[in-house]
Amino acid sequence: MSKPWAIRIAEESDLDAIMQIEHECFGSDAWSADGMFEELTGAEKYYLVAYQGESLIAYAGLNKLPTVHQAEVQTIAVKPSARGSGLGRDLMHHLLQEAIRSSCLDVFLEVRADNPVAQQLYRSLGFEQIDIRKRYYQPDGVDAIVMRAQLSSEPMREPLVLGIESSCDETGVGIVRGNTLLANVISSSMDQHARFGGVVPEVAARAHLEALLPTLHEALAKAKVSLDEIDAVAVANGPGLAGALMVGVGAAKSLAVALNKPVYAVNHLVGHVGVDILERGELETPTIALLVSGGHTSLLLVRDLLDDVELIGETIDDAAGEAFDKVARVLGLKYPGGPEIDRAAAEGDPNAIRFPRGLMLPKDMEKHRYDFSFSGLKTAVARHVEVLNTKGLDVPISDVAASFREAVVDVLVTKAINACVDHNVPRLLLGGGVIANRRLREVAQQRCDEKGIELRIPALSLCTDNGAMIAAIGAQLVMAGRKPSGLSFGADSTLPVTTVQTH
Ligand code: KG4
Ligand code: ZN
Repeated sequence: MSKPWAIRIAEESDLDAIMQIEHECFGSDAWSADGMFEELTGAEKYYLVAYQGESLIAYAGLNKLPTVHQAEVQTIAVKPSARGSGLGRDLMHHLLQEAIRSSCLDVFLEVRADNPVAQQLYRSLGFEQIDIRKRYYQPDGVDAIVMRAQLSSEPMREPLVLGIESSCDETGVGIVRGNTLLANVISSSMDQHARFGGVVPEVAARAHLEALLPTLHEALAKAKVSLDEIDAVAVANGPGLAGALMVGVGAAKSLAVALNKPVYAVNHLVGHVGVDILERGELETPTIALLVSGGHTSLLLVRDLLDDVELIGETIDDAAGEAFDKVARVLGLKYPGGPEIDRAAAEGDPNAIRFPRGLMLPKDMEKHRYDFSFSGLKTAVARHVEVLNTKGLDVPISDVAASFREAVVDVLVTKAINACVDHNVPRLLLGGGVIANRRLREVAQQRCDEKGIELRIPALSLCTDNGAMIAAIGAQLVMAGRKPSGLSFGADSTLPVTTVQTH
């Protein structure tokens, strides 16, 4: 049989009805309406009301102190006519659930020594007496019994997590249940940047604003879940374009507040690594990860996904994808340049022109063993084309594209494999949009096979920027029992990879 009452979060408009019960239950001890109003609207407060039909029959409130993992039951009042029905227990149960969701480990309350019925209820919910305050309730001089319940911090096994990604030009919303992918919807503003030959931050930020809601709704529909089933929200808060990141961060916080669910601020780069979990069920560590996209070129040593990610190298100028985009422009090819160059290179000779390999000379390798530089290569291609043009010769686009691609791939793979060998890590994981490059996959596979290194390349839809990878990290954090991020974190365009979660 369903319960005759409905419980929901208290609103300001409940104040009058609450005050009536307050007076009925507590008489001269009753709080003032102003005091109650502050309780209902306080930041860390969680007040519930129970209605039977149109009439308010009970309310209860919790004060949360998540930073010290504690909460206090502030009040609980049930109209005399509704007592003995299990409503008090139901309300207490809701408060304890909220305390658990807010990572509170201890919940305290005070109860009158002359109220054995209430004490019995609290005991049955796991509360124990820890103190007594003599003559606490005045004017009748009744003692207060202080009770505490210690909540199990046992984390959720298979949380339903929604992930939001907006660090560059893809608006991504992903939904996972534990390690299982349910939806991965991406809306890209790439077309809007095409005429500029690269991502324009303001255009990207505006596009995120427009795409966010439709992308969210599509993801929910694909995953066949509703918003109120979501256990936690995760969002990439950096690194990336500040204005673009802010859109996702704002959306995630609003959702978390509206749904009253925890929010986890997650590192975008770590998302690229963690996405492997969605295909394999877990991430094997240690692993070297090579992340190459229009925004980043990073080599990571991942000893532990949540606690030990180290940046061992990165580009000192252009990102690999950016180099593809810029060289495509020099060759008169469209944006994004990667796929265009890949196509043109298919018919070209990769050894036709020996383009420079950045930071590969012995003297550079001393200081920049795992770092990358593509701007010299880009300039070399531009000069090559310029010389041919001034001589009035045709530019062999296929050969230039193939030779350029070979130089990029050679450097990327050589440095990634060096990292594996030097650190004795027999695993290499690839991520980022440039992984779509056919030659990169081929050379990486070949050289990994030679060295006995296991190569992992997630599906392309999980390699490019997406919300599923952010949801995947969020789920890992929830399952590891990590505290949510709170609401004060911001977008951080230069977030270091060592910060897996921002608090
Ligand atoms: O990860 P991604 O989709 O977005 C961000 O950069 O955030 O990566 C896009 C980049 C672009 O620079 C694009 O030119 C490059 O990935 N890319 C490729 C290929 N497909 C896309 N680069 C080389 N070869 C490709 N086939
Ligand atoms: Zn990325």
